Amino acid sequence: IVRMTDLELHGRRVLIREDLNVPIRDGRVTDDTRIRASLATIRHARDAGARVMLMSHLGRPAEGAFDAEASLAPVADRLEKLLGSPVRLVRDWLDGVDVAEGEVVLCENVRFNRGEKKDDEQLARRMAALCDIYVMDAFGTAHRAQASTHGVGLYAPVACAGPLLSAELDALGKALAQPPRPMVAIVGGAKVSTKLTVLETLVDKVDQLIVGGGIANTFIAAAGHGVGKSLYEADLVPAAVRLMEQARARGGEIPVPTDVITAKAFAEDAAAETKPVDQVLDDDLILDIGPDTASRYASMLISAGTVVWNGPVGVFEFDQFGAGTRGLAEAIAESSAFSIAGGGDTLAAVAKYGVEDRISYISTGGGAFLEFLEGKTLPAVAMLERRATELAG
Ligand code: 3PG
Repeated sequence: IVRMTDLELHGRRVLIREDLNVPIRDGRVTDDTRIRASLATIRHARDAGARVMLMSHLGRPAEGAFDAEASLAPVADRLEKLLGSPVRLVRDWLDGVDVAEGEVVLCENVRFNRGEKKDDEQLARRMAALCDIYVMDAFGTAHRAQASTHGVGLYAPVACAGPLLSAELDALGKALAQPPRPMVAIVGGAKVSTKLTVLETLVDKVDQLIVGGGIANTFIAAAGHGVGKSLYEADLVPAAVRLMEQARARGGEIPVPTDVITAKAFAEDAAAETKPVDQVLDDDLILDIGPDTASRYASMLISAGTVVWNGPVGVFEFDQFGAGTRGLAEAIAESSAFSIAGGGDTLAAVAKYGVEDRISYISTGGGAFLEFLEGKTLPAVAMLERRATELAG
């Protein structure tokens, strides 16, 4: 695919799709990770003397009208501070935007436009008409085939990947294509059902697949233990059994916790109890892995060559159920493995335990990160590949 950094941008009208979909409370951005991740791209275009137009979605507003709740105004404010130069927010931009060389404007939420989500051709053509060069840099939205992430790129004079998208694809591609061994993946979170495809794809790639959270409970049940009142999916126990057999057939393993932390209620002040996994009572909730399990997993991570992390292994929002996730985060930090982490909860855990700087690569993708791990082709990337082939041909 064509990369933005290989193109001459001076004086050009450059339309950059970023993923600035960040959490906002009371009109203020509460986590600006995604905004900071896009800065290098925006600075590069601005400093090259491009006429920079930025696009992003925010939330999931109803299409067809402006909605103050989903305005990018707080994002424009934060971006301006981080960038150190003005960012003009433009409400109506589909008919054309005046932008000076080296100026940066932010087009209001793309999802206010009718047809954005269904990748409407007419809308995509109007976006394409705004620019000389379209830059797709929104890795976090690369799994969506929408007008601003996909269609626009088909009709723009030139379509290329921005530095953030390129970096994400390079880092994740490196971890999955020829990973230094052993490779360990951690897949945590509430439900097997939402991550079944990820588990199925990873089980064929990795040497150890560590499962956590509600997902682990289904595997604990599959190993024949009681899980009390814990969150688990009875209908997916056969799938868990099959995955464990699949891992073993390859000489790998999906380890099951030998000890767990339980409580009688899911609450911030619930009393935590540590017990062997075969002694979980009918009224127990499993809310974290136990210390023996955590140290067994930590040694796997420390001696790993590659680590892929998506999802916490316990209810780390409550400190008494956070030791498992903390232990794994610290082991990854200590490990010399090439490590990548992605997903909203995972990044919250990474931040809580202060290991940001000791993880090789932190992805800005949530759903996109998962789809990449599933081995799916992201529609925005497929579009860029198609445009590059046309160019070569
Ligand atoms: C995300 O937060 O995962 C992306 O910004 C995509 O948002 P969406 O799920 O609303 O398309």
